[in-house]
Amino acid sequence: MLVSPSILSADFGHLARDVEAICEGGCDLVHVDVMDGHFVPNLTIGPVVVEAVAKAATKPLDIHLMVENNNFFVDLFAPLKPEYISFHLESEKHPHRMIQKIRSLGIRPSIVLNPNTLPEELEFLIEDLDMVLLMSVNPGFGGQKFIPSVIEKAKRLKTLIEKRNPKCLIEVDGGVNDKNVKELKAAGVDVVVAGSFVYKHPEGINTAISALK
Ligand code: DX5
Ligand code: ZN
Repeated sequence: MLVSPSILSADFGHLARDVEAICEGGCDLVHVDVMDGHFVPNLTIGPVVVEAVAKAATKPLDIHLMVENNNFFVDLFAPLKPEYISFHLESEKHPHRMIQKIRSLGIRPSIVLNPNTLPEELEFLIEDLDMVLLMSVNPGFGGQKFIPSVIEKAKRLKTLIEKRNPKCLIEVDGGVNDKNVKELKAAGVDVVVAGSFVYKHPEGINTAISALK
């Protein structure tokens, strides 16, 4: 299982230290939650702070946009050369065009689905994606409870992926811990995002990342 810890649960007063800690702890990606206060009822960080994250990180960035204007935010973050940019299907009028734009900037495109969005919505987009991010909480906040229906959704998505684009990864984000990670793996999930489980683990970050892997 690949692990992408969410820095939303880091101590923002010691952000560089907390980014270095997950990279040294063996994470595969660094998950950055960008919220605009419109698409979701929370506001997080912009390119100035993410640039500091990119400097501290020795692992590639996995940027999760929770914004209304994807075009504007993709342009803001592209110069930081993230590995992935994920945008919400629910916030984009022209998802196919947005995928092409992200790829043309040398970044791997990924689409995020809210808990109620059907995986079959991706039937005519899946061949152009490198990853699909399934939300297992409602986007906006860390520390929420895992929504178990994501397991069935991951299985259905896996069937579509195997048929149309076997290289496409499945990532799950929200309420992930050492218990539900086993079911996620069995459902075909490749990458898990974890914020509070990693940063608030009583035995520390390294133990948390190893437990998920
Ligand atoms: C929620 C974010 C998540 C969140 C995960 O909108 O996309 O990345 O920070 O945090 P936990 O693991 O605490 O649910
Ligand atoms: Zn996220």
